[in-house]
Amino acid sequence: MKKTIAWGITGAGHFLISSFDVFGRVKYEYDIRVNTFLSSAAEEVVRMYGLEGQLETISSGDYLEEVFPETRQGKSWPKTGRFLLDKYDALIVSPATSNTVSKIAHGTADSLVSNAVAQAVKGGVPVYVVPVDIEGVVVSELPFGIDRELCRKCDPCPPRDNCPNNAITDQIDLLKCSGCGICRELCNFNAIKGGPVELKVRDIDARNVETMKGLEGITVLEKPEDVIDVVKEMLH
Ligand SMILES: Cc1cc2nc3c(=O)[nH]c(=O)nc-3n(C[C@H](O)[C@H](O)[C@H](O)COP(=O)(O)O)c2cc1C
Repeated sequence: MKKTIAWGITGAGHFLISSFDVFGRVKYEYDIRVNTFLSSAAEEVVRMYGLEGQLETISSGDYLEEVFPETRQGKSWPKTGRFLLDKYDALIVSPATSNTVSKIAHGTADSLVSNAVAQAVKGGVPVYVVPVDIEGVVVSELPFGIDRELCRKCDPCPPRDNCPNNAITDQIDLLKCSGCGICRELCNFNAIKGGPVELKVRDIDARNVETMKGLEGITVLEKPEDVIDVVKEMLH
């Protein structure tokens, strides 16, 4: 019978694109069903990075291939009851924000993804977590934004006038942006940028990852690509 993985996505830009690449492979290369659980921050961030369409191809909407967005669930998270019904072969949270890691590490289960982890452990479903903030310095990807020192405030402004979501004024409203990147192409002064930024990992976040490593039923993975080894083992 086909294997089924529950995929928990939280609101991290770091490791987000590589997580999508990996889960595309999980579905198409390894023929595994992917049922997605999206935190409410992830709903926003996935859109900002232009990944909504890709999500529809990974989780088609059929039974056990649904997308469960946190903003459309109740507060008692009834969908996570499925982890008690022997429906999933694993729960993989990738990427996991420092916020969700903190919740998992301390047993809090008041959000869709942290509750999914709690239910999965109770139901004997193995849990794998890919934290974004493990230790040291990480390089993350920013969504699109306007460098106001480069912006010449042109009028007409091609990026603003051609944005399909009306997301641009003197800044980009990231809650409207769908990450299409048309604006970056149209700005004659290269004032629209996304891309890499370096961040220091806080020691509290590193400690939470260490705590999580000691919890029953939970395995910490270093990067999204490590999910492929989990899948190979599962199919062995
Ligand atoms: C564009 C963008 C990128 C973000 N990237 C990260 C990140 O890499 N790591 C992180 O811990 N939080 C990141 N955040 C902040 C989280 O989304 C925020 O802490 C949120 O409350 C996490 O909720 P969740 O853990 O339920 O998904 C980002 C926010 C935005 C707007």
